[in-house]
Amino acid sequence: MKEAPLSFEASAFQCFVRGLRGVWRDEAYRGSVEAARRAGSDEPAEIERKARESAAYQLYSWLERHSQQFKYYGRYGIVRWMEERKDELAKVLEESSKRHPELLQLNPALELPEYVRAVDTHQHGGGIWGDAADAFAYETSSSAYSFSLFNPRTPMELYAATARKLAPQAKAILDLGCTSGGSTRALARVFPGARVIGVDVCAPPLKLAHLRSLEQGVLTHFRQGNAEKLADADASVDLVASHWLYHEMPPAAVRRSLIEARRVLKNGGGFMAYDMYLVPGGAIGRWLQAGYAARNNEPFAHTYAGMDMEKELRAAGFTDIEMKIAHPEPSPEVQAGELPPHRTHYMTMITAKALPIAARGAT
Ligand SMILES: C[S@@+](CC[C@H](N)C(=O)[O-])C[C@H]1O[C@@H](n2cnc3c(N)ncnc32)[C@H](O)[C@@H]1O
Repeated sequence: MKEAPLSFEASAFQCFVRGLRGVWRDEAYRGSVEAARRAGSDEPAEIERKARESAAYQLYSWLERHSQQFKYYGRYGIVRWMEERKDELAKVLEESSKRHPELLQLNPALELPEYVRAVDTHQHGGGIWGDAADAFAYETSSSAYSFSLFNPRTPMELYAATARKLAPQAKAILDLGCTSGGSTRALARVFPGARVIGVDVCAPPLKLAHLRSLEQGVLTHFRQGNAEKLADADASVDLVASHWLYHEMPPAAVRRSLIEARRVLKNGGGFMAYDMYLVPGGAIGRWLQAGYAARNNEPFAHTYAGMDMEKELRAAGFTDIEMKIAHPEPSPEVQAGELPPHRTHYMTMITAKALPIAARGAT
């Protein structure tokens, strides 16, 4: 099962949806930005009130919400397509889970956090924790048809290259919120010989991650667990990394995860979070980001961007904190902190080092 199992009709339909996303990202976005500039305000709420009258912004916001629904639930939507093959997909994952079981550690007793269970993240009903069909649907959706419209391998390669610079000697690595393991395998490829463990709260995507690693011959471990309470011993890990995790967690959960990361890291170990955090483009950028978070059911994308991550990291016991926009397709405008010419996700790379914990005795 190497290719995303979409029929010809479903692939053609998804290309149409991508075309709609192109309109959203280009003309509709540019018209919305013009409307926002005409609003002449530094307050996102005021910009929203005034821009609503603009046809371009009405189109932009409609496409932002509904193109995602088409993608998942249209006539040839990815979720519909996968659900038709639900039993077959479940069987594929059950069988592959029996191969090299030492690499896949599931925990049926783990309680899913409410923010995972209760939010239809990305407008995907029930999200990715439900069953095999959901896991395959999310994989197909994020690997080929995401809002970002850039090759999903590009940010993962940047993620892995940054990890390598941050902790070149790392032997024990955690990739938190790994879903189907793309980011975990990217790390495993640049850290040959290291023990790289992808951690996620949801079982179906972990089983899929395991299948993909077996297919690709990449040695990775996967474990069902919560980033807020890791199973690892104190000071046992060299690098704790995450790729698009924190924008899916409420602030208190992010905070607990930072404290956990510091607990399991060795003194001087590396911390890395690659996600949407810094928002270029001032008030207009914040307005667009808040709208995206609301329309695509990613409520914590908004609250995460509002956190003071530097302060949070210091409080959790980190030093050498750096954060910068590290976009896979950098434009001069984004580098300068301004709005880009096309709408896309703005990725921020946050890196830090674990401060020694004096009271821990042996470490
Ligand atoms: C946007 S996806 C990450 C994508 C993945 N890292 C990749 O690059 O392909 C976020 C993932 O975080 C997981 N997640 C959310 N909260 C979590 C938590 N507290 N602990 C572990 N995983 C969590 C979700 O189940 C989901 O699979």
